[in-house]
Amino acid sequence: MTTAPAFGVYVHWPFCLSKCPYCDFNSHVRHAAIDETRFVRAFAAELAATATRVPGRTVSTIFFGGGTPSLMQPGTVGTILDAIAKHWTIAGDVEVTLEANPTSVEATRFRGYRMAGVNRVSLGVQALDDSELKALGRLHTAQEALDAVAIARAAFERYSFDLIYARPGQTPQSWGAELKRAIAEAAEHLSLYQLTIEADTPFAALHKAGKLKVPNEELARALYDTTQEICAAAGLPAYEISNHARPGAECRHNLIYWRAHEYAGVGPGAHGRLDIDGERRATATERRPEAWLLRVETRGHGVVTDEALTPGEIADEFLLMGLRLAEGIEMQRYARLAGRSLDPRRIAILREEGAVETTSSGRLRVTHSGFPVLDAVVADLAA
Ligand SMILES: C[S@@+](CC[C@H](N)C(=O)[O-])C[C@H]1O[C@@H](n2cnc3c(N)ncnc32)[C@H](O)[C@@H]1O
Ligand code: SF4
Repeated sequence: MTTAPAFGVYVHWPFCLSKCPYCDFNSHVRHAAIDETRFVRAFAAELAATATRVPGRTVSTIFFGGGTPSLMQPGTVGTILDAIAKHWTIAGDVEVTLEANPTSVEATRFRGYRMAGVNRVSLGVQALDDSELKALGRLHTAQEALDAVAIARAAFERYSFDLIYARPGQTPQSWGAELKRAIAEAAEHLSLYQLTIEADTPFAALHKAGKLKVPNEELARALYDTTQEICAAAGLPAYEISNHARPGAECRHNLIYWRAHEYAGVGPGAHGRLDIDGERRATATERRPEAWLLRVETRGHGVVTDEALTPGEIADEFLLMGLRLAEGIEMQRYARLAGRSLDPRRIAILREEGAVETTSSGRLRVTHSGFPVLDAVVADLAA
């Protein structure tokens, strides 16, 4: 294990073959071929510009997210990894994750990604039923997704997959059965997201028109409870509100976000948190892929936002991200960041309500019954 502080690199690939009707990620469909060589040059330039700002780091995790990074050629991924290694030291136990869509075409590239240096894949399986996949606008069948999982299992040391639950018409029984089938295919990690109706998506329009009925609060709660019970019994407890792992198999890259450590973000619409001259800086790049490309080609980077966060903002972010974790937050670290302690009276009230608990080692964490109302708990503590 490396002892250097955690430092992650996020690489955003902003293209998809089609846009799923529920998704509001920065992903775009292009009918012409993507000029990967041109994009790779831009990624390399943005990495170089970022490394000038935060030199001397040891990279503990790298994450290719999207969009659909599994549309990239393995050679493209390899060249980006080489560019990262040119500027920073790579930890011996580096975790390199790539998000993949589970189609048969993409699975043919898995070995190439492994050869390029990827050692973990996260597959967007979403559901194990063909009509449900169709309703989600997915381009793969359940069998195709399971075949991709099997190929991932053979090619990588570590893999995870995502499912979306609290879908229209789901009951705790039907979801429980689907989840058990999924667990039989899972190894060490699963991401289980409740369907969120995101503004300005086709699902939002259908929802508004009354044509898409999502579970009410009570049913959503029952589905959440089913998820926790089945996963915990299978040795995959939640370590974060939507993420389950065998102990030690957590996604180390995402832990960097939730534990408020440092990370660089490159590619269209990527966010970063860089510690420079005693300040924590929040960076964000141009979201539109072609505009990002032009910006990098003319200025050497695509950064459009770069601001120092105030102690209050840093502390709020720490609270917001850290309370998503089952381990919770260290209250002293909050006090150091904020320049003041959390209000003990608010903690006492939330504790009486059963929403949070404190530990003898000074941690504050949300309880099982507090997680479904996490936003309210955070708002209460941050206020
Ligand atoms: C960047 S996306 C996916 C990567 C890959 N393009 C895919 O779709 O397989 C990460 C994950 O977020 C989840 N997700 C996206 N939009 C969501 C929504 N509106 N509600 C719940 N989960 C969502 C999906 O499970 C998805 O796999
Ligand atoms: S869910 Fe994945 S494949 Fe679908 S549009 Fe979003 S990023 Fe693309």
